[in-house]
Amino acid sequence: MKASPNRATRWLWFGIVACLVVAAWAGVLFRWGLVQGSLPGNLSFSHLRHAHSHLMYLGWLVPALFLVMTRGLQEERAQAGLDTALRRALEGWTWASLLTGALTFPAFLAWGYGPVSVGARHLPMAAMLSGLCVFAWYGFAWAWWRAQQGTARTHALRLWNLSLWMLALSSTGGWAQMGMNLRNIQHPFWSRATIHIFLDILALGFFMLAAIGTVIAMSQRRGRGWPTPRLPGEAAFSGALTMVAVAVPFTFLLGMRPEQLPGSGRVLGALAGLASAAALLGLTRHLGQLSALPLAIRVLAGGLFVGLGLAGLPWVLETVHAWELRLLWLHWVFLGVLTPATLWIAQEQGWARWPHAARATVGTAFVLLLSLVPMTGLWPASLRGPWVSVMALVAALLPALVLSRVGLDALQALSSRSEPSPQVGGPKG
Ligand code: HEM
Repeated sequence: MKASPNRATRWLWFGIVACLVVAAWAGVLFRWGLVQGSLPGNLSFSHLRHAHSHLMYLGWLVPALFLVMTRGLQEERAQAGLDTALRRALEGWTWASLLTGALTFPAFLAWGYGPVSVGARHLPMAAMLSGLCVFAWYGFAWAWWRAQQGTARTHALRLWNLSLWMLALSSTGGWAQMGMNLRNIQHPFWSRATIHIFLDILALGFFMLAAIGTVIAMSQRRGRGWPTPRLPGEAAFSGALTMVAVAVPFTFLLGMRPEQLPGSGRVLGALAGLASAAALLGLTRHLGQLSALPLAIRVLAGGLFVGLGLAGLPWVLETVHAWELRLLWLHWVFLGVLTPATLWIAQEQGWARWPHAARATVGTAFVLLLSLVPMTGLWPASLRGPWVSVMALVAALLPALVLSRVGLDALQALSSRSEPSPQVGGPKG
């Protein structure tokens, strides 16, 4: 059954989508600046890049997944209901995470990671706001911990719980990075490792598991008219979950330059990539039968897991770094898989009403990914030219326009009248 979001939650969804739209246009502005040779108003390219990526993570994906997880938990507890105070706490922390995440955008745009003079002090304002946002994540995890007690330990609930442990673990990388910035420490290994501990565990551990858990929960709900996929049995599921929990924390090693790692580090990274890929494929294999989930998302997700499994192999790791595939990889994960999957979930849960949001996003993401290929070593340098930047600009415009349509839809939903049954499963107060 689709939710009928009340007015407050429609505002929350609108705020989350607004971050997605602003961040997407910031990406277009970056591409436009590259074509022109400079950005308007003396903006810095590196500040704009940080503003874009932080808004995408902190303002869009994290609060969006908090919102759909909360809805998922409400549905899992359809019989017992979710205590009103705890539901409000979950929504409150999602708001806090959204607002602090949104504030990082102007801060990174203006100052990047640099210090700002406040009286006699020099404060790294943007990094401090990101830190505040992480406190909101802890608040959400704490409220979740209390809210999920007494819920049947379904596959979905166990995935959600593990995803929040991963979120907490990834934040240690963020704190370490901030500590090193504050003390002005530049370390060849740890400066890079802390970034990857934060980003890679966040991507594969939190975003991916939270999304898979929600899709599994939805696929098991009766009354959607979907064929219910046969999920892995208890032993296979527990095995895959344990493998993810042990292996994902070490995937940051794949983000390190091969020459920065001793032989044992490279072997560990390769094993972590292989084990994470096998476990994620195991967890999602059955969702392949879920014909309602757009095929393009399933194909890109499958390709991503295969790529992750291969990434640690000797020749592959060198090539990934030498060919500068990072940007392509990041947008494959976030724009090709996680963003359309989250929009699809949101549409199924009733937040988003435009029925083509996920398909249009994944379609235009595919064009954007293709436009990035000539910027990598996959494309011969002799065949590059100014057309590469122009093509990347045009390709960036397509998903930005589609996401703006999603934003317009969220804006229109604000003015439509509230539906009568605001909470699925009926809140218990
Ligand atoms: C309309 C969609 C998008 C456009 C047009 C876009 C564009 C861009 C551009 C132009 C860059 C900088 C490239 C460079 O350094 O040469 C970038 C970097 C990045 N983007 Fe996106 N992007 C989009 C969607 C996303 C999404 C959905 C996410 C994550 C949820 C994301 C995360 C990132 C990250 C993490 C970086 C790298 C930042 C760094 O290296 O510090 N992007 N994007």
